[in-house]
Amino acid sequence: MEHSEDHILDYAGSFRLLRKVADGGMATVYEAEQLGPAGFAKRVALKVIHPQYASERHWLQLFIDEAKLSANLAHGNIVQIYQLGQVDGQYYMAMEYIQGPTLRSIIDRHAELQQPMPLPIAAYIASRVCRALDYAHNFVAPGGQRLDVVHRDVSPGNIMASWDGHIKLADFGIAKARTSFDPAAERHILMGKKHYMSPEQALALAVDARSDVFTLGVVLYEMLTLEPLFKEDITDLLLDEVTVHPLPSVRARVPQLPGEVEDVLTRALARDPNRRPTAAAMGHALDKWIERQRPVATPDRLQEHLATIFPTSQKRISGSSAKAETPTKFSNFKRGLRRPRKPGFLARLFGL
Ligand SMILES: Nc1ncnc2c1ncn2[C@@H]1O[C@H](COP(=O)(O)OP(=O)(O)OP(=O)(O)O)[C@@H](O)[C@H]1O
Ligand SMILES: [Mg+2]
Repeated sequence: MEHSEDHILDYAGSFRLLRKVADGGMATVYEAEQLGPAGFAKRVALKVIHPQYASERHWLQLFIDEAKLSANLAHGNIVQIYQLGQVDGQYYMAMEYIQGPTLRSIIDRHAELQQPMPLPIAAYIASRVCRALDYAHNFVAPGGQRLDVVHRDVSPGNIMASWDGHIKLADFGIAKARTSFDPAAERHILMGKKHYMSPEQALALAVDARSDVFTLGVVLYEMLTLEPLFKEDITDLLLDEVTVHPLPSVRARVPQLPGEVEDVLTRALARDPNRRPTAAAMGHALDKWIERQRPVATPDRLQEHLATIFPTSQKRISGSSAKAETPTKFSNFKRGLRRPRKPGFLARLFGL
């Protein structure tokens, strides 16, 4: 179809920022409302890239490319991207807002309570991430082209649980399609969090879907033991830990671990990418084990479990959390987002 100006529906959009959720390394995340005519308001998470990154052309290009790439990923276990925008040179991404804890805080909470994570719950979380990865790894663009999406940053901070027991993988933000692979750029930037890298990522080699499977293995190990698999902070030592040293035995830490789950973990953590299962195969193996457990892990079970380990937060978040928080000052960003714009089609239609 020919595209012309007639096919563009301009609209006057704005966001109301409700509270700052977190200040990450690369961006600040806000809970916000996307406003529309006649009181329409949709809850979103707004990720605003820090100005120092936005002024870095390479990063900006990466951010934009990845937002474009992941814009069409629509899956129940993936945080949906709604919009990429720019106001006064500040770039933001609007996405599905997840009410619930990250896997980071679930693991930390178990460590604090000195209570291992129930095995079926850990396996269930990993199995849902496998589904998200399998979908993304095999994603075909609307034009029919295989994109070979790789997440590259599967880590407990990017795995979220909703209070009603669903698992969502966030931030295909630094994932990169092999089709837009830039080896020169690749060598200069470490993608992903350094303690959750695959050997090939750590060695700055070409990375594909199999790298995400290894990284999910690292996350599964941490869910089972409540300890990170890789701990070294000094980069050279960490490199040896990830690529050379024998991996610690999970059975030594979790003696009651069923052989089947141990087997899934060992295969995901194979240093040779050819020996790892696909995300789909890893998910099926976990599901086969989960299905034989009583009670079977389901969203309901996860919901109950979250309510048990976070007895107070759930109420606070599902209530009027935004009002309970100290208001956040959003200065230029807020003004920028709400700056009057040329009235668009809907604005004219609704007389705004
Ligand atoms: N879609 C979302 N809905 C609700 N909260 C979110 C959402 N995305 C992120 N967050 C919150 O914001 C925090 C920071 O997210 P951010 O993605 O900036 O950092 P990160 O996940 O720790 O690192 P990375 O840069 O690897 O993604 C998360 O830990 C989570 O608490
Ligand atoms: Mg994140």
